[in-house]
Amino acid sequence: MTRFERVDSPEQSLVFAIPNAGLPSCIYWGTRLPAGEQLEQLALAVQSDVNGGMLDAVPAITVAPLAKETFPGQLGMKLRHPDGRGLDPSFEIEGATIASEGSVWRFVDPILELQYQLSVEVVGNAFALQASLEAKTPILIEWLAAPVIPAPLDAVETIEFSGRWCGEFQMSRVPWVAGIRLRESRLGRTSHEHFPGLILPSIGCGEASGTARAMHYGWSGGHRMLAEQLPDGRRQVQWGNVADRDLVPSTGYQTSKLYLACSDKGLNGIAEQFQLTVRDYIVDFPDSERPRPVHYNCWEAVYFDHKPEELVEIAERAAALGAERFVLDDGWFLGRNDDTSSLGDWFVDQLKYPQGLTPLIEKVHELGMSFGLWFEPEMVNEDSELFRRNPEWLLGPVDQVRGRQQLVLDMSLGPVRAYLLQRLDALLSEYPIDYIKWDHNRVLPHTDANQARGFYQLVDALRALHPRVEIESCSSGGGRIDFGVLERTHRVWLSDSNDALERFWMQRNAALFLPAVVTGSHVGPRVCHTSGRELPIEFRAWVAATRHMGFEMDPRELTEHEATVLTAVTAWYKSNRDWMHKGTIQRVHSDDPAVLGEMHISQDKDQFALFVAQMEASAQSLPLPVRMVGLDPLVQYKITLVNADQQHGINRAPVALTRDSLELSGLALMSIGVQLPISFPATLWVIKGEKL
Ligand code: GLA
Repeated sequence: MTRFERVDSPEQSLVFAIPNAGLPSCIYWGTRLPAGEQLEQLALAVQSDVNGGMLDAVPAITVAPLAKETFPGQLGMKLRHPDGRGLDPSFEIEGATIASEGSVWRFVDPILELQYQLSVEVVGNAFALQASLEAKTPILIEWLAAPVIPAPLDAVETIEFSGRWCGEFQMSRVPWVAGIRLRESRLGRTSHEHFPGLILPSIGCGEASGTARAMHYGWSGGHRMLAEQLPDGRRQVQWGNVADRDLVPSTGYQTSKLYLACSDKGLNGIAEQFQLTVRDYIVDFPDSERPRPVHYNCWEAVYFDHKPEELVEIAERAAALGAERFVLDDGWFLGRNDDTSSLGDWFVDQLKYPQGLTPLIEKVHELGMSFGLWFEPEMVNEDSELFRRNPEWLLGPVDQVRGRQQLVLDMSLGPVRAYLLQRLDALLSEYPIDYIKWDHNRVLPHTDANQARGFYQLVDALRALHPRVEIESCSSGGGRIDFGVLERTHRVWLSDSNDALERFWMQRNAALFLPAVVTGSHVGPRVCHTSGRELPIEFRAWVAATRHMGFEMDPRELTEHEATVLTAVTAWYKSNRDWMHKGTIQRVHSDDPAVLGEMHISQDKDQFALFVAQMEASAQSLPLPVRMVGLDPLVQYKITLVNADQQHGINRAPVALTRDSLELSGLALMSIGVQLPISFPATLWVIKGEKL
């Protein structure tokens, strides 16, 4: 007998067929089904035929396709006896706990004495799926996929995310073809190169319309994704932890959470579901009502050259511009004068700070800012007291290739975690620090999931001791951004690129998964240190104001004009961040490939801000009207060009919006759109809309 169970989030449904013998299979993942849908009929509607040259029954794509079922594709579970013999499990249902917020089903293999558990949780509008396996005696678990979900067939491509240092969140479309598309982050962190997200757009899906499904694997230790089109035409997508060196016999294993979103409002529906899920259910803010303070981070101002008198001057200027938190970056600890030494020696450098950090922190507090400190706990330099004392704490061989001159500590070792916890706790107890920038600047020498587990344990232990401290996840920019790390941190450093042109497109792509409230964005130096590009302050300031805003240049370089603009944009950020950080970011389609846009819409849709960036010179001579998205069509809005004063004097017939506000319905704004002024590349227009 097979029974059917459905799990609903507000906008999507999952339906599982659960036989008595065998594992369940997902027979429906899509827009929320009507209440009365007969699930058995649903299953019958898609029951397969059998053709010549095939087996006599079509093996289902279960939550973990098994060898025993002669599954024609990649298996969802690969197990071995410790002596190397393959194990062929075969499960039957044992029990279930069904609840509206999520359900758990348990299956057993009585012969091999295994238990498999499938759990499906409703997390806001998304689902989080997890699989776990327990064995009576230790076995080798070579691969256990998070619950496998068939991929839709009404699609010709997937959307993937790749990247590099200073170039995170690049989107590409990959056609479905027969066979396997395999992506692996093999070097122990989420990675710049393979962000663990996949979008499955149905044919006709656009930014704001059509059906899209999306997956995200919430794990910071390196993952594997395989998207497979089977010989019979069906499709499956598997996600799991990449395992390698850490493969030892064990009696238990749990995958990370696989998050699913599905919407018929196009890519923006996915963005909305993931952004709200991350903000309201995944990130645990110590004080969720506290607005995100404007940061000042000193990295690109002073690098390792810390002089307290200079830092005080910088802090004064940053506070005058509107900064509310001062983050002391790399360079404050014992002998850290460049990147060749000292990682691991988490003691304040008495040469640079003879009276410790207290005088600086007191000054920062006097200026009305809170204080944050940079750490890179999992790393060590050979030239450090820590390494000289504990060379055996190293992960991997001593003769491995260095990364940024540094090596990695083995986070699976209790004494390593205990030392780091002691040091971090001591500093957080001695000084009033409300924020940690937690960095991770190199890849691991080899895949080892225990490293990420050790990292999670350390952060969790530190948070238990200092629950009010906020943490930023940084890894040479965006190398450790995923929902697993966001369960324990409060901000991500999207990229080391402060080039606002690069940032704008990266931020816009990342918004498919990340809300503004967790996405750090800083106003960098006039000449960008990672691209060499010189960008106007107006553009740099507005790009940062669209996320969790901060400054990272040396404020002493600012001209009077630059300081005035930055102060004004920061003030605008402060008066709009409340609704922007509770709202959503939606992608605007632009008819002009040289123009990119996004909209921030408040929760109740009574206000919005449209940001339109001229990324390069357009091919045609006139700017094209920009159509808005996500508004209530029947509501009248008053729209104002916030930065009308930033025209360049090339506009010979200034557009209406530069003279006065306009009043239009949501329908009009979404169908004919608005005309913006002709602009130079690196101009960002800001339109504020309010419900009349
Ligand atoms: C990494 C980070 C930077 C900065 C440096 C400090 O590269 O991404 O923002 O903190 O480390 O060494």
